Amino acid sequence: MNLKTLFPFFLLITLAICVCITVMDTPKPISNETKKDEATSVSDVWIAPDTTTFPIGYEGNLIRYGQKLIQHTSYYFGPKGKLMHTTNGMNCQNCHLQSGTKPWGNNYAAVAANYPKLRTRSGKVESIFNRINDCFERSLNGKKLDTNSNEMKAMSSYILWLGRNIEKGLTPKGTGLMKLTFLDRKTDPLIGKKFYVKHCQSCHQSNGGGLLNADSTEFVYPPLWGNNSYNIGAGMHCISKLAGFIKPNMPFGTTHLSMVLTDEEAWDIAAYVNSQKRPTMNLSKDWPDISKKPIDYPFGPYADQLTELQHKFGPYVDATLAKNK
Ligand code: HEC
Ligand code: HEC
Repeated sequence: MNLKTLFPFFLLITLAICVCITVMDTPKPISNETKKDEATSVSDVWIAPDTTTFPIGYEGNLIRYGQKLIQHTSYYFGPKGKLMHTTNGMNCQNCHLQSGTKPWGNNYAAVAANYPKLRTRSGKVESIFNRINDCFERSLNGKKLDTNSNEMKAMSSYILWLGRNIEKGLTPKGTGLMKLTFLDRKTDPLIGKKFYVKHCQSCHQSNGGGLLNADSTEFVYPPLWGNNSYNIGAGMHCISKLAGFIKPNMPFGTTHLSMVLTDEEAWDIAAYVNSQKRPTMNLSKDWPDISKKPIDYPFGPYADQLTELQHKFGPYVDATLAKNK
């Protein structure tokens, strides 16, 4: 046999190999199951814009200053503040982790897309400036900042820059705090204390007071109760918010992909922390429509017949049922 007679065979074999490769390479159709898995994975969680890419010039400098104020609030406004002494010494970043960029780390993802916003706590439409000042007065147990100040402009510019790509009215996945399901029992501060000792005390200390840095300009570990902590009117003083912060973020270094505590542990620790002494404030103007109060708001009057104690510690499953009756 010479090469000429073999040629058609070569052609046939090459063709067969090509067909084989094409068939093997064709991607399998994605089943609905796989799609659903992908949809609930990390990929659709909000990712903050790269904070090394601020615009250049005046605007960029203002945004950069805002980020600094959020990271080192105490250095500017704390008891030893460079600009004024109007806060408890905490940093915004102590609660708005990684300068408000961490998924479920109480981030600022949805602020640009949702403010000004009607807030039921005040019963008013609040600007981003009002909202920042709420945290100054409650979370930082301090005084309002002048809304015309350069510092207010800087912080709001930074927060708006972070959320600038989000469509008006939307709240991306991973925004703010995690929502944990209610326990079917009352939360228990005594159980919470045991877990606090095990998982939290090494940094936040047995008296909950945290730890200052060497020159007392900032906390290395921020306080969870006591004179320098958030006051009774702060968002963190509702245990659903505190538990929803703790679970995906604490002990420090935890992320939503590596959670250490169970929901139950997070609820009980939150009950323990929020049973401790902290600064007060006048809350008489809050929740003008009491039917809008969150179920775990720890102060009456309420639209239902449940006691203040049940509102503070649960159980909330009954409470939610009672409210819907
Ligand atoms: C003690 C913790 C704590 C500190 C400190 C703190 N905040 Fe907050 N902040 C919260 C909590 C809790 C919320 C409410 C989150 C929720 O309801 O989902 C909040 C909400 C906000 C919001 C509204 C977010 C939204 O999506 O509606 C802004 C803006 C904000 N804080 C800015 C600041 C700034 C700026 C500082 C520093 C000057 C600061 N916060 C300090 C705990 C804190
Ligand atoms: C390894 C040290 C460490 C441990 C352990 C730890 N934290 Fe924290 N925690 C921090 C630091 C640091 C911050 C401030 C984060 C920042 O500024 O970036 C913080 C912030 C917080 C905040 C918000 C700020 C405040 O002071 O109100 C809460 C609430 C909190 N931690 C609760 C807990 C709880 C509850 C536990 C135990 C489950 C815990 N932490 C364990 C280091 C720790």
